[in-house]
Amino acid sequence: MPRIAYVNGRYVAHREASVHVEDRGYQFADGVYEVCEVARGHIIDMTGHLNRLERSLRELSIGWPVRRAALEVVIGEVIRRNRVSDGLVYVQVTRGVANRDFVFPANARPSLVVIAKKADPAINAKRAETGIKVITVPETRWDRVDIKTVGLLPNVLAKQRAKEAGAQEAWFVDVDGNVKEGGSSNAWIVTADGKLVTRPADEGILRGITRTTLFAVAKSLGLVVEERYFSVEEAKAAREAFITSATTVVMPVVAIDGQPIANGHPGSVALSLREAFFDVAEKRPA
Ligand code: PDD
Repeated sequence: MPRIAYVNGRYVAHREASVHVEDRGYQFADGVYEVCEVARGHIIDMTGHLNRLERSLRELSIGWPVRRAALEVVIGEVIRRNRVSDGLVYVQVTRGVANRDFVFPANARPSLVVIAKKADPAINAKRAETGIKVITVPETRWDRVDIKTVGLLPNVLAKQRAKEAGAQEAWFVDVDGNVKEGGSSNAWIVTADGKLVTRPADEGILRGITRTTLFAVAKSLGLVVEERYFSVEEAKAAREAFITSATTVVMPVVAIDGQPIANGHPGSVALSLREAFFDVAEKRPA
């Protein structure tokens, strides 16, 4: 069955789906995006993702390409046309197509692309059994990483470095040695007394939708969450570490910079959060 993409009002064959060479997303990374998980035929936390998209657009003065309700229909349609039961849906909005000029174009229409992709949930489940390794890298991004823009070159370079080091994620570290977040995920640790710790979302990180849902998941399990800074040293000495994102949900971290976390196996807190996640997350039939 051929893959289908949505591009500016049309459902087209994925291999032929394209945008104009002067799309500002292509020339200036002048655009924003969202990634939602699809699990067992349901879109996970779509409300949160669309709320964040709305905020990203507002922060950059980019208009909605279509009304929000219409976008929800398109998202569902792309998932259905690609028969995605488990996987993800990617939504990208750019400022549109215009002759290359740094300032905002007077009357460009925002571009909208929606693509969906199948993923085998067994792969992530298997990975959660062994856990992932992370490396730490200095923060090199701009100071508006709270906006989910497609300007991801520092993230690309950091995650490539992780891969070359045999790891699966890179954690950005601020000038004081505190962990910010991953290249495409939020960072968490579990303290010796069982508290969850993650960096406050208004301080140099993206407010992850999975992160927000995890506060409710933690509560449902009777766990306490502290939003505060934590250093690389504290993380390496923590009882557990893990990441959250729409694509990995909760993924245990078993080593940081080659140093095992605790006994080097996924922690029980991370695994129970992972297990309880879908009971708490919003699930909308696709
Ligand atoms: N990335 N921090 C960064 C820098 C991210 O790129 C992401 C998500 C997150 C987690 O956010 P959420 O829980 O809403 O997925 C945190 C997506 C998955 C991506 O770029 O593929």
